[in-house]
Amino acid sequence: MELSNKEFTELCKHIYKLCGLNIKDKKHYLVLQRLEPLAVSEGNGSFKGLIEKLSSNAGPQLKDLVIEAITTNETSFFRDEHPFEAFREIVLPQLAEMAKHRKHPGHHRKGSKINIWSAASSTGQEPYSIAMLIHEFLGSKGKGLSAEDFEIIATDISPKVLSKAIAGSYTDSEIKRGLSVERRDRFFRKEGHHWVINDSLRTMIDFKRINLAEQFTRLGGVDVIFCRNVLIYFDEETKGRILSQFSQMLSESGFLFLGACENVGTLPKKFKKVAYKESVVHQIVG
Ligand SMILES: C[S@@+](CC[C@H](N)C(=O)[O-])C[C@H]1O[C@@H](n2cnc3c(N)ncnc32)[C@H](O)[C@@H]1O
Repeated sequence: MELSNKEFTELCKHIYKLCGLNIKDKKHYLVLQRLEPLAVSEGNGSFKGLIEKLSSNAGPQLKDLVIEAITTNETSFFRDEHPFEAFREIVLPQLAEMAKHRKHPGHHRKGSKINIWSAASSTGQEPYSIAMLIHEFLGSKGKGLSAEDFEIIATDISPKVLSKAIAGSYTDSEIKRGLSVERRDRFFRKEGHHWVINDSLRTMIDFKRINLAEQFTRLGGVDVIFCRNVLIYFDEETKGRILSQFSQMLSESGFLFLGACENVGTLPKKFKKVAYKESVVHQIVG
C-alpha cells in the first residue's frame, strides 16, 4: 500500500494528538508498516480512508487501535539490570526508613504507603520486577515492614498492554528474558503453557491507564518514579512538561529512574544525580 508524504504528515499529526509521540520524517516506513492493517480494516483499504475517519468520526475504539498499533512495547524483566540493582541497594533501604517513619504517630504522612510508580509499564515486567525486589528485601532486611507498606502504581496508555500486565501471564520465552529460574519458581505458577504471577505480587500493583502527554498530577504524591524507555519518543516540550510534573509529584527525597538512552537535557533543579555502578538515579533535594 502507498503512503504519500501528505498522508504521512496527516497521520503523524493525529498520532501526536492522541499520545504525544513525535515521529520523525525518516520513520515513514514505521507508520506505513504499523498502520497498514488499520488502513485495510478501518479505512476501506487506504490511508486516505483511515485519515478521513480519524478526522471526522473517530470513536475511542479507533483511537485506541491507532495507539496500540503505533506504540513500541518492548520490555523485559529486570531490563538493563543496573537500575534494579540501584533500586535494591540504595533506594529500597531508604524507602524502608521512610515507611518506618510514616508509622510514627504524629508523622505528617502517618499511615501512607510508599508509592512507586512505573509510568510506562508496558506488559508488566517492570512493575513485577519491582514487586519481586520488595518481596526479597522484606524477607531479608524488612524487619517491622510488610508488603502492605508498599504500593506500586503501573500505568500505560495502551489498553492492550495493560490487560496483559493485569493478567500477569507470560510465555516461557518472555520469562527467560531477565528472570532467573529461582525467581520464576518463587514468584510464578505454571498454568498450561504460561507462567502466571502469584497473587501476593499482583495485589501490590494498581494498574491504571494514564497518558503521559496529558496532565497526570491527579495521581497524587509518589516516592519513586520509573519512567524508562518512553521519553525518547516525545519532543522537548512534552518531555519538559512530563519532568516538571514528576518533580511536583515526588516526595521529599523521592527518586526518579530514567532509561539509559533517554536524552532529557537538563532536569528541573530539584534533582541531584546519584550514581550507582553504570546507572544514575535522580533524587529530589530539599
Ligand atoms: C518501550 S516500552 C517501555 C516499557 C518499560 N518502561 C521498560 O523500560 O521496559 C514504552 C511504553 O510506553 C507506552 N507509551 C507510549 N506513549 C505513551 C504515553 N503518551 N503515555 C503513557 N505511556 C505511553 C507504550 O504503550 C509502551 O508500553
